[in-house]
Amino acid sequence: MTGEKKSEWNSNLTFILAMIGSAVGLGNIWRFPNVLYSNGGGSFMIPYIVSLFLLGISFVLVEYAVGYKFKTSLSKILYTVHNKLEPVAWFVLLIVFLITTYYVCVVGWDLIYVILSFTKAWGSNPDIFFSQSVLQSSDSINGIFTIVPAVLASVAAIWFASWMILRTNLNDGIGKVSKILLPLLCIIVVVIVAYSLTLPGAASGYTQIFSPDWSALANPNVWLAAFGQIVFSLSLGMAIALTYASYLPEGSKLVDNALIVAFSNSGFEVFNSIGIFSILGFMALTSGIPFNDLVTEGTGLAFVVFPQVFNIMGPAASVIGPLFFLCILFAGITSIMALLEGVCYSISEKFNFSRKKSATVVCIVGVVISSIFATGAGSMILGVFDAFLNNFALLFAVLLECIIFGWVYDFDELIATLNENSRITVGKTWKAVIKCILPICILGLWIQGIYSTLSTGDSISITIMAILTVVLIIVPFIFTKLPARNDDFYNKIQ
Ligand code: PFF
Repeated sequence: MTGEKKSEWNSNLTFILAMIGSAVGLGNIWRFPNVLYSNGGGSFMIPYIVSLFLLGISFVLVEYAVGYKFKTSLSKILYTVHNKLEPVAWFVLLIVFLITTYYVCVVGWDLIYVILSFTKAWGSNPDIFFSQSVLQSSDSINGIFTIVPAVLASVAAIWFASWMILRTNLNDGIGKVSKILLPLLCIIVVVIVAYSLTLPGAASGYTQIFSPDWSALANPNVWLAAFGQIVFSLSLGMAIALTYASYLPEGSKLVDNALIVAFSNSGFEVFNSIGIFSILGFMALTSGIPFNDLVTEGTGLAFVVFPQVFNIMGPAASVIGPLFFLCILFAGITSIMALLEGVCYSISEKFNFSRKKSATVVCIVGVVISSIFATGAGSMILGVFDAFLNNFALLFAVLLECIIFGWVYDFDELIATLNENSRITVGKTWKAVIKCILPICILGLWIQGIYSTLSTGDSISITIMAILTVVLIIVPFIFTKLPARNDDFYNKIQ
């Protein structure tokens, strides 16, 4: 970062592991199985694979090419593309930062469950335990004045860990942590899936996801769901791939790397869902609860259904339970580092902060905002943040990035950058995808997102969304107007 030697990955493997770590997160573990199941099971793999190649990998390539070519932060890149575009960078980064503030909180809940899982401390009613004992949820917004100490402590611990990683130099921080956590994550998932396949009822679970409902393919919402999963899972448009690629040394094979990362991420989520569904099949058989009622996503799956499963699993649960929650913890931490790195990098570049200083500022502000989610009204506010930021704000940001890099910037330069060292090259098809097909698909998802966000809104949610909208408009302009403390910031890169 600025004021220090420019960071560079010490090997291509470190870059690949950090990239896979950024992509593999909560979305792979608890979002994908449900999306797959509710959109046609086996037949969903067709729109999923099409979206992966046509849209996901295509957009990752844009981020790689831009990051690698400019070798700087998103704010400076957009300023270089056009001086009026700097606010867009801060807009994207603010969304990413706000998403991180609640993502950290969910990982914090998970940390609590890692500890609880050794003794199955959630008792015989995990549903009530989660909402009343862990979250201490209140129905009214007044709950915002009641701090939940255990959640706050756990959220602070995750922020502290993130700060420790981010303040350390690139290869000793993010690089080393990815090299340790990612192999551990893979081992844990293999153990869980292998064990889950031995459970009675497992086959009735995993065959559900792979038995195709071909009629679903005619439903445009299924295609949008596939694309939505790819956007979420590959963390598209969040300046992660762009930032990580800016640290690549000359001569890196960009296209090859993008393919490795995208396939690993998708391979992980498909493999992991075999385990999740086998376990749900076992639960359906043992408890008599219909399979449909068990397949849920998000916190309901991780903190309610899975503890119920561990309650009836017998002694193996005291090993599989902690492993399951550790898996979410490791996947979450590697994603949090990636989400924050791009934010810190832009702040460092513009304000001439050292890596340590920007990590400290970002993590302090982060812990303050996250503490809102560690209150009695926390889970309710978190739901509104998630719906608004993910379904609406982030998609708008991705759309803007697509238009900027596809239309405002000279796209042929990106093609040349990508093809420079790669064995697999890109050309006109890619250009057409980025310029036309991708923006249309994102627009479709965005309209669907606006509809679902607004249709679920009560007056409190609408108020929170209105506040977020104002913040998302004002703060990027303030950051743009603040004069750069690094003279070099306004020198456009050639
Ligand atoms: N791709 C990661 C995941 O699937 O969890 C990281 C991530 C994606 C975090 C999207 C947050 C988010 F909104």
